[in-house]
Amino acid sequence: MRKALVIGNWKMNGQQVLNKSLVEQIKTGVANELLGRIDVGVCPPAVYAQSVIEQLSGVDIVVGAQNMSEHDSGAFTGEVSAVMLKDIGCGLVILGHSERRALFAETNVAVAAKVKAALAAGLMPVVCVGETLEQREAGKAADVVREQLDQGLAGVDASELSKVVIAYEPVWAIGTGLTASPEQAQEIHHLLRKALEAKSAAVAANVRLLYGGSVNAANAEALFAQPDIDGGLIGGASLKAEDFIAICRAAA
Ligand code: G3P
Repeated sequence: MRKALVIGNWKMNGQQVLNKSLVEQIKTGVANELLGRIDVGVCPPAVYAQSVIEQLSGVDIVVGAQNMSEHDSGAFTGEVSAVMLKDIGCGLVILGHSERRALFAETNVAVAAKVKAALAAGLMPVVCVGETLEQREAGKAADVVREQLDQGLAGVDASELSKVVIAYEPVWAIGTGLTASPEQAQEIHHLLRKALEAKSAAVAANVRLLYGGSVNAANAEALFAQPDIDGGLIGGASLKAEDFIAICRAAA
């Protein structure tokens, strides 16, 4: 049985005072009631990660990053490495988010290198896949996500695969309020599960597949009730404590 996982992707949002209040509310809302039944993570902008880690000291909520370099150190101005994220106490890292693919030309090859670096540093990679509206309307959604999965996990062996989380985020559902229906999401999640089985049947059943794309307090339960949806990667709703807590409750 896969333990549900809900991760908040704050994207480029927040400031110290707001973050402190948001984290305190989330801590209060989930720590006693939900932790142990589900896993919860928050991904602030990297500049705030250490203060959030300190605020959550002693609370089983994982703090993660939204991106990282595939390099461990060196002349890569502005970059942050997996080793550094692990050093300050991060536990996971979102990789291959569609915004990085679209806005920063991130390729499947780059994602694969980052996945290997994250695993080597002891971080849990949350690997994002998802098609654009044009690709879906052209009937290419399955091919696109299967390719992103296969190429993004290139070089990942079965033992490493058990440490990976996959997030299906249809690009047309991100930030639009146009959530995929539970059936649409389950169709792709089932396809991802089958693709993972081709890599390792023994491990595939344990890999958690998260859905992301306009998840909110109203639609979370129906999405998470699907057999191959093991939780969510939450954007906008993760910035509102009440909504994020409601989504965590829906996953429990
Ligand atoms: O990484 C999660 C994010 O892309 C989903 O955003 O605002 O549609 O929940 P949102």
